[in-house]
Amino acid sequence: MALEKILVVGRQPKTQQLARPFTKKLYAADEVGDVWELIDAVDPNLIVFDTDIPKHQIDSALTGLRHRAIQLPVLIIGRIEQEALSEMRQEHEWTDCIENPEDHSAFGRAVDRLCLRQQQANADRFFIEDCPSSVSIVGKSRAISQSLRMIRMVAQSACNPILIIGETGTGKELAARAVHILRHGSDHKFVAINCAALTANLLESELFGHAKGAFTSADRDKTGLLELAGSGTVFLDEISEMPLDLQAKLLRVLQEHTFRKVGGTEEIQCRATIIASSNRNLLSEVEDGRFRRDLYYRLCVCPIPLAPLRAESRKEDILLLAEYFIKNSSICPEKKGKIKGLTSLAAEMLNRHHWPGNVRELRNVIERAILLEATERIGTTNLLLNPACLFEQDAPAHEKNAFQTKDFSLEKAEKELVKKALEEAGWQKTRAASLLGITRATLYAKVKQYKLQEPPKTPQTVS
Ligand SMILES: Nc1ncnc2c1ncn2[C@@H]1O[C@H](COP(=O)(O)OP(=O)(O)O)[C@@H](O)[C@H]1O
Ligand SMILES: [Mg+2]
Repeated sequence: MALEKILVVGRQPKTQQLARPFTKKLYAADEVGDVWELIDAVDPNLIVFDTDIPKHQIDSALTGLRHRAIQLPVLIIGRIEQEALSEMRQEHEWTDCIENPEDHSAFGRAVDRLCLRQQQANADRFFIEDCPSSVSIVGKSRAISQSLRMIRMVAQSACNPILIIGETGTGKELAARAVHILRHGSDHKFVAINCAALTANLLESELFGHAKGAFTSADRDKTGLLELAGSGTVFLDEISEMPLDLQAKLLRVLQEHTFRKVGGTEEIQCRATIIASSNRNLLSEVEDGRFRRDLYYRLCVCPIPLAPLRAESRKEDILLLAEYFIKNSSICPEKKGKIKGLTSLAAEMLNRHHWPGNVRELRNVIERAILLEATERIGTTNLLLNPACLFEQDAPAHEKNAFQTKDFSLEKAEKELVKKALEEAGWQKTRAASLLGITRATLYAKVKQYKLQEPPKTPQTVS
């Protein structure tokens, strides 16, 4: 297999001669310390360490690759004991060695082996090995594998209701959908309702439905979600926000498996799986009298926890998720496949961030960066971890607060960026498009979508 670019680390001319026939472009680094800059600059397909490089330096390079989530095959020239090689592979899976620096055919075979293994691993490297294929929960950390184990166990049991707990953006809805798919398959309905988004009356009639004439505007019968879901799933998002009297009614449904529509007399069977989610500590809500204790215990049989992204046990997923979003985002179709990844500094920056909005925030940061990035790798300048900073200098005072740290709305960020680029370009669309790294057609579409208009020019004062 011939590779586009090989990076040889070390000063041995023999190693370069060995690698040369297998690549179109050969790059050389004298020392391990130069590797990161070269990876960023040339994006090689293989790294070769020659016999000069001490083992401890290779070990730290392999650790560096893992920290930066760089999936490059590594070939070491020299004799390495099987046990040491296995340890190296634990650090960086795609590592191999050949003993003889003059054996071209062994080099070729090792390259083939490594590349093949890497291609296979690439296809499902975002998911843990036993993640069911119908569930697309990205992550390989200890935390995510524990959450997945719980998801699987709970889905296979008859547990109903099910509670999912975790901070905002940790993937509670994704987990709920996973439980649903594993328990019911994709033929059954999954209906979701956000308890924080509706008034008490609306929430009740959405959930239970209502009979014609139950209240002034009830001019016809309405089927509630509990009935609509059939044998599928009802997802009650942010259950802590449910009013207390509705909590009592929900408890009755959970115990009796029947309910009545608002203003109705008929008992209706509820066959659905009820999954609730909460980003608040429900026990403290109970203590503060905002959540019913009996409902809490009914829900909390086998809760599925989702760790915050910054937790030690989940942190290692940050770059994997970032890469997944870079690969799969459809925010900018013309850039699809063109952005290869992150620069090392950008990766470090993501690893250090606190992620109060968790995976949702990370996805928005990456999509914003895709929009802005004009090169093959996302750099630190386009990773706007706090979009508020962008506008602080010149936004009018009343607009400054429009961009709260907790506001992760991508649309708002995109609108502001497009507007900023237009202003910067003096409303010249071609320049603004090139500042944003998008085509003119896309820019026109965005201007229309966000109804952006050039402000009228203030007349020049004549003195
Ligand atoms: N492990 C994950 N893999 C891939 N995408 C994820 C993961 N966790 C969360 N997301 C994405 O992040 C966003 C927020 O997830 P969501 O399930 O709505 O979080 P929550 O309900 O906890 O606020 C969604 O776009 C979701 O697809
Ligand atoms: Mg949610």
